[in-house]
Amino acid sequence: MNLCIVGTGYVGLVSAACFAEMGNTVCCVDVNPKVVDMLRQGKVHIYEPGLEQLVQRNTSEGRLTFTTDLAEGLENALFVFVCVGTPSRADGSCDLSYVHQVARQVGQTMKDYKIVVDKSTVPVGTADQVKALIGEELARRGLDLEFDVVSNPEFLKEGDAVSDFMKPDRVVVGTENVRTAKLLEALYAPFARSRDKLVVMGVRSAEMTKYAANCMLATKISFINEIANICERVGADVRDVRMGIGSDSRIGYHFIYPGVGYGGSCFPKDVKALIRTAREHDFTPQLLESVDEVNDRQKLVLPGKIRAYFAEQGGVEGKTLALWGLAFKASTDDVREAPALAMIRALTAAGMRVRAFDPVAGATARQALGENDLLEINGKDQYAILEGADALAVVTEWNQFRNPDFGRMKKLLKAPIVFDGRNLYQPETMAANGFAYFGIGRKPVAS
Ligand code: UDX
Repeated sequence: MNLCIVGTGYVGLVSAACFAEMGNTVCCVDVNPKVVDMLRQGKVHIYEPGLEQLVQRNTSEGRLTFTTDLAEGLENALFVFVCVGTPSRADGSCDLSYVHQVARQVGQTMKDYKIVVDKSTVPVGTADQVKALIGEELARRGLDLEFDVVSNPEFLKEGDAVSDFMKPDRVVVGTENVRTAKLLEALYAPFARSRDKLVVMGVRSAEMTKYAANCMLATKISFINEIANICERVGADVRDVRMGIGSDSRIGYHFIYPGVGYGGSCFPKDVKALIRTAREHDFTPQLLESVDEVNDRQKLVLPGKIRAYFAEQGGVEGKTLALWGLAFKASTDDVREAPALAMIRALTAAGMRVRAFDPVAGATARQALGENDLLEINGKDQYAILEGADALAVVTEWNQFRNPDFGRMKKLLKAPIVFDGRNLYQPETMAANGFAYFGIGRKPVAS
């Protein structure tokens, strides 16, 4: 089958490479000529395990091409996947200008039947807007071409995006048109394997499904973070509580890890967007508003512990914190809404020096944070930044932080103090190694 994919971010590029891998002919369109140039040379501009090899193989075998020209991309395509960004505006609403722009361009350039597929996460009702815009442009050209607009939300996780796409839990297709649903079923057949994985529904339900899924997951995280905060105060350990509740299959063990709050390009944005949508429909989404507030508060829990610890020593001003992990989670260079950034901003504003190390997200974090005299990013390695630091805070759960050389850490740090925002270490181990230790939702280990 012939596909055009508009937007080469995480969603667009992963979809394009995976569709091409299954033998489809895929043309990717991106407005950024630099990105298109890089991709043509097989260089991937985002960090996603396994993606570069897929892009290189399919590019060299001629199934995957890149262009800045939408008309060229559309030429032979039956499917047009809209995978452009939908950033949050300051008021929490979703900025749809890129989606609208693509819709207009499709209407201005299409010459035959197209199935336009919304893969970007967009508010309920967007497919109808896209349909109207394409229709308007066609009318302007005096054409009456047939087309369909389908909602096909993406559920991939950064860092696991390729395997999520290859082995999806489900493929949601929102369309009222049976023939279009059949064509999408054929396109996804190699991935979904079993028919059960394809869930066909109305366009609006599909759009809503994406928000419901992400809001549910965000709710689980805010829930466990709230439980963790209560655990700390009553002398319970949230690790045991998680094991205790997770065994109930209605609850499950997944996505109830307490931590520094959720970040990334999806949860914060999608929770805010659904709040906004609900409000626009005169409904107050109390639960979702709390999920969002609990998360903002959670991002400041670890800096709060750090400040409380140093309060007795005259505060954090002039102290140096070594910080492991900047990405919003492991296996990505993405720092969008990363809790580490909120933490760095809060602590440097209070006069603390921060030396941060991340295996891949150093450059993106530097770009997001700008120059700051109190901030150094990416020393030689995770140990180098510990030298002479007053404490260590662990913020991202990269594997290389899980089993570190505690003896070496102790020698390098000015004092053996660890603030663990991901509960990577066990209090007993830390006590045995002579560290003062502060996790999330568990009793601290005194120095
Ligand atoms: C998420 C969804 O998982 C995916 O289905 C959707 O399509 C896009 O949004 P992603 O943002 O890549 O994917 O990351 P995810 O692994 O879900 O983690 C999101 C955030 O929640 C991270 O900051 C992570 O650290 C945090 N998290 C996750 C927790 O704090 N606790 C958990 O138990 C799980």
